[in-house]
Amino acid sequence: MSSSLSRPSYSSSSRTSSPFFPNHSSLINGGTRRSLSFLSASPQELCLRSKRKSVQSSVVLQDGAVVVTNSSPIEKLKDGLLSVPSQEVVAELGGGEHESTVSITVVGASGDLAKKKIFPALFALYYEGCLPEHFTIYGYARSKMTDGELRHMVSKTLTCRIDKRANCGEKMEEFLKRCFYHTGQYDSQEHFVALNKKLKEHEGGRLSNRLFYLSIPPNIFVDAVKCASSSASSLSGWTRVIVEKPFGRDSKTSAALTNSLKHYLEEDQIFRIDHYLGKELVENLSVLRFSNLIFEPLWSRQYIQNVQFIFSEDFGTEGRGGYFDHYGIIRDIMQNHLLQILALFAMETPVSLDAEDIRNEKVKVLRSMRPIQLEDVVIGQYKGTTTKGGVTYPSYTDDKTVPKDSLTPTFAAAALFIDNARWDGVPFLMKAGKALHTRSAEIRVQFRHVPGNLYNRNSGGTNLDRTTNELVIRVQPDEGIYLKINNKVPGLGMRLDQSHLNLLYSARYSKEIPDAYERLLLDAIEGERRLFIRSDELDAAWALFTPLLKEIEEKKMIPELYPYGSRGPVGAHYLAAKHNVQWGDF
Ligand code: NDP
Ligand code: BG6
Repeated sequence: MSSSLSRPSYSSSSRTSSPFFPNHSSLINGGTRRSLSFLSASPQELCLRSKRKSVQSSVVLQDGAVVVTNSSPIEKLKDGLLSVPSQEVVAELGGGEHESTVSITVVGASGDLAKKKIFPALFALYYEGCLPEHFTIYGYARSKMTDGELRHMVSKTLTCRIDKRANCGEKMEEFLKRCFYHTGQYDSQEHFVALNKKLKEHEGGRLSNRLFYLSIPPNIFVDAVKCASSSASSLSGWTRVIVEKPFGRDSKTSAALTNSLKHYLEEDQIFRIDHYLGKELVENLSVLRFSNLIFEPLWSRQYIQNVQFIFSEDFGTEGRGGYFDHYGIIRDIMQNHLLQILALFAMETPVSLDAEDIRNEKVKVLRSMRPIQLEDVVIGQYKGTTTKGGVTYPSYTDDKTVPKDSLTPTFAAAALFIDNARWDGVPFLMKAGKALHTRSAEIRVQFRHVPGNLYNRNSGGTNLDRTTNELVIRVQPDEGIYLKINNKVPGLGMRLDQSHLNLLYSARYSKEIPDAYERLLLDAIEGERRLFIRSDELDAAWALFTPLLKEIEEKKMIPELYPYGSRGPVGAHYLAAKHNVQWGDF
């Protein structure tokens, strides 16, 4: 059973010297918890997270299933279903802490995500000193490429937040020397055997830990996992697989994917990524709530009138139409990114910061949600427009990969409810759209009005019942948190206006904010599952959205057209008004 296994920790020698590590995490008892003692963290705690020892436990899912097997480590070794080796196995293999190595294989390395996000994030981790001393990165895809060509391709995209820093060029060269490429088919055992051979050579007899990042279209996930697990999983250390979304299109296809993956992997080897959970402000949500006395008592139906989760992009789906048309905005953004944030926002206080305690609470929220009613949903699709300046923007259906009569929504707004004691009757509004007037992601918490407000008569014409307190957590861009309060305008009179108590990250912290993929990759390397989606969370998320999606599709619901670059369909306002709410981003 993997619960008793301890994770080998890495040598710290390559990490202690970097001055750039964010100082907000540290260790508790060598376990997998995050400390809240960020105020005392020193730069030397740089990537100390990597030194944590694993304290894994069997996981009882909310539906009662237990996700780890009872097989012994040796049995698991034999089965090639390794997670983490036991001390005996490590001893047998002659591995010590300083002798471990991590091999990261980016499957689909020729693709957009690999170039745009994964390699830059790995480089940033390397630059920060967060990768272990011994590591190798392999790109794997069908495209023919040499190591040199991969390095050239990757070097063009390492223009992440790090690139203006001291020694960046030098570090980049060092990093690229540790990147290699293997050409292969995703369903070829033979090609994965060849990859395994190369990985072994680089691992040089050290205890090997292997991470596979599936950056490929979902229809080939299972083939790749099958080959990686049977022909290229580690025989001495852990083997983990990061799986990118989409995890299916509905409950049925998602369950089928989970079942197929579980033929080859244990649940604790599967890291389902939702990169919104890796964003700094989303990570901070629990800190804000559970470490500040002033917020937690207000976090309920008693004080909160509604909560809004807003995602907007100021560009369309050009170039991704083929993918997008099959999924639509509800599957692309709401069912995962926004719902995950909602669950974190609304969960009860977890027993601890351990992954399973947090995920247990999130699942409870998801399972307490009321089925979404079609009349509580508005869908839209963008149409082409020409600005006054003469710039023309395309319609969604102008994309050659999108059928001309496509009804796929590029915008959706919905009102959701959590039927539990804390949130009974509170509307949780979601809004997500492409090709809108701005790019932003935020959480808005609108509080109830002050009963019998003494100052209503002095408000200078402002309706204080409308200008209630609002807490805004701006996930991106210009990360920040602000609280709207009513304040007296200075002077001899008594006039009120609404002002902001404002925490703008760029003004308060000199440090850049790491990309979500950096945090998540590091977590996967460390075996920290807190920010990854467990299978029962995924099931609950699909159980909520599948009936709605089915109804929309069966009824061929026609999306309301909105101009490219606008604020989206008017219907979203009627929806909010129906629930006595005004969108906070207006
Ligand atoms: P790509 O379409 O770029 O595919 C990645 C690689 O997979 C390609 O370079 C290609 O490599 C191989 N590939 C593509 N199509 C097929 C096919 N039909 N059969 C076999 N191999 C194929 O995907 P992305 O890089 O954009 O995304 C990767 C994964 O991440 C997907 O699951 C996507 O949904 C997800 N994702 C992507 C985001 C993004 O911003 N791009 C954001 C969030 C999630 P080769 O031909 O060399 O084998
Ligand atoms: C992805 C969606 O998951 O998130 C994309 O598939 C979307 O459609 C992207 O553009 C947004 O991510 P970010 O981090 O740029 O806000």
